[in-house]
Parts: sequence; C-alpha cells; structure tokens
Amino acid sequence: MNPLLKAQKIGFLGAGNMAQAMIKGLIEGGIPANHIYASNRSEGKLIKLVEQYKINAASTNEELIDTCDIIILAIKPQDLLTALEPVGRVFDENKIVISVVAGIRMEKLERFLNGARLSRVMPNTPSLIGRGVIGYLLNDDDDDALDSTVADLFAPLGRVIKVGDEDQFEALMVSCSSGTGFVFEMMMYWQDWIEEHGFSVEEARVMTIETFVGASLLAAQAREGVEDLQARVTSKKGVTAAGLQSMRELEIERALRISFEKAAMRNKEMAREIK
Ligand SMILES: NC(=O)c1ccc[n+]([C@@H]2O[C@H](COP(=O)([O-])OP(=O)(O)OC[C@H]3O[C@@H](n4cnc5c(N)ncnc54)[C@H](OP(=O)(O)O)[C@@H]3O)[C@@H](O)[C@H]2O)c1
Repeated sequence: MNPLLKAQKIGFLGAGNMAQAMIKGLIEGGIPANHIYASNRSEGKLIKLVEQYKINAASTNEELIDTCDIIILAIKPQDLLTALEPVGRVFDENKIVISVVAGIRMEKLERFLNGARLSRVMPNTPSLIGRGVIGYLLNDDDDDALDSTVADLFAPLGRVIKVGDEDQFEALMVSCSSGTGFVFEMMMYWQDWIEEHGFSVEEARVMTIETFVGASLLAAQAREGVEDLQARVTSKKGVTAAGLQSMRELEIERALRISFEKAAMRNKEMAREIK
C-alpha cells in the first residue's frame, strides 16, 4: 500500500457491512487503526466496531468530515442525501470523498460536496471476503493522486477496475454486483437437480460450489479464453455437446442478455426515484 495513504485519516460515514469489510481490509493492508474513523446513526454498531478494530468513533458526521482527509460514504442510497445536506459546507477541495452508494450519480453527489475531489466506487458482495470486483469512476480523470488513492484503498477487497463513464459504471454494477445474484440463481438450479438424483443437500451443495469454483479457477489460470476451455471439455456428439446444444436451442444467451438489460433499466429507475 502507498506509504502516503498510511499517513491519511480515513473516515467512514456509515458503519454497516460495507464499511466493516473495508475497515478489516485496510487494517490488514497496513493502515494504522488509529487513522481510521467512523460515524453511524445508531451507536451500538459503532461501539462494537471500535472495540473490535480499535478505530476511532466520531460523535457526529460533521466531526468525521472535519477530522478526516478521505471520507467514504457507506450508507444506503435512501439515507445519503438527507445525511449530506446538513454537513455539505464542511467539505472542501482538499477532501477526498468516495461514495460506495449505488444509484446516486456523480453530478448529484457533487451538489452536496462543496468542491471536494470525488470518486464513485462499486464493490460487489464477494468484496466482503476479499474476492470482489470493484469498479471506480473519478470526477476528474486527470487527478492521478485520487486515482491511485482509490485503487490502493480498495485493493484488499479484490480486483479494482477503473471505468470511463457512468454507463460503464452501470454495466459493471449489473454484470458483477447483480451478476453475483444471477450466478447464485444458476447455482440453485444446479443444486436442485443434483438433489433430485439422490444426493444429500450437503453433497449437492459441495458438488455445485466446487463445479463453479473449479471452472472459474481454471478459467483464471488458463492462457486460452473460456471458449477454448469449453471446446476442450466438449467432444463432438458427446454428452457435454448434447447438453450445450440444448442450452443454445433454449436461448440461454438471450435470457441472460434480457436479464442484464432489465437490471440496468431498474438501476436507472431507482436513480430517478432517489430525491
Ligand atoms: N454490502 C455490499 O455488499 C455492498 C456492495 C456494493 C455497494 N454497497 C453500498 O454500500 C452502502 C452501504 O451498504 P451496507 O450493506 O454497508 O449497508 P448497511 O449495513 O445498512 O450500513 C449502512 C449504515 O449506515 C448507517 N447510517 C444510516 N444513516 C446514517 C446517517 N445519517 N449518518 C451516519 N450513519 C448512517 C446505518 O446506521 P444504523 O445502524 O442506524 O442502521 C448503517 O449502519 C449502500 O449504499 C450500498 O449500496 C454495499
């Protein structure tokens, strides 16, 4: 991790699941716990976090923003704008603000941040175990220092990918964040079918998970692309080929594409609903 980052004070506005995963990752990545601050609406969660990680509690959001160089907005979309409104003037152009909040676009955030440097970041749920895909977008593409700060901060949570604009940001969110849910949907059908063939729930669970993990790791390690790997497990007129032919006849690709588009449409709709 960048040694300069270790000298910064990092504050979490909202101390829920995402903040906790990040705090764990930051401390493991070498950020001193006494440089990390958090504020939260209810006190209980904050007290627990302070006890567990020996970080500092800020008694108000205003105090958090005032104290920290980097402020990570980690609250639910519906709570964010109400939280920012009363504290907007505490931000200035020297503060870095990182929003992990889904659905609130850069231009809307900028209205509340008094000229602060800004990045939107989208970690998916596997980030909670350090195996996430984390997309980020900057409000100033020439701000190299902001770029490396964001990349360094999120590296402990998985693979960090810079995106070019809000549309790409949405595509990453749909494919990787909602995408995690889509993969779970397929895993459920996999497991059901195995159970129907006399395996216990636990056996079916292991068989399903290991098939997905094994295929993914193989794809991650191989030099060739997924298409070539698939060709290697598929002999002409064989068992796999018969199954694949059926998947194609049933237009699984079309079904997936429509699901991606529907998710993207819902994302836009939700962004409009947030006042
Ligand atoms: N979890 C994920 O995998 C994930 C992935 C990608 C993005 N995100 C984004 O990350 C954000 C946080 O998600 P999460 O899962 O961490 O939610 P969460 O567990 O519900 O945490 C949100 C926290 O914000 C606190 N809060 C609400 N209003 C506040 C205010 N005005 N001031 C200070 N704290 C306030 C809540 O306090 P209480 O204790 O009172 O509830 C709660 O602890 C969301 O916008 C979500 O879209 C999450």
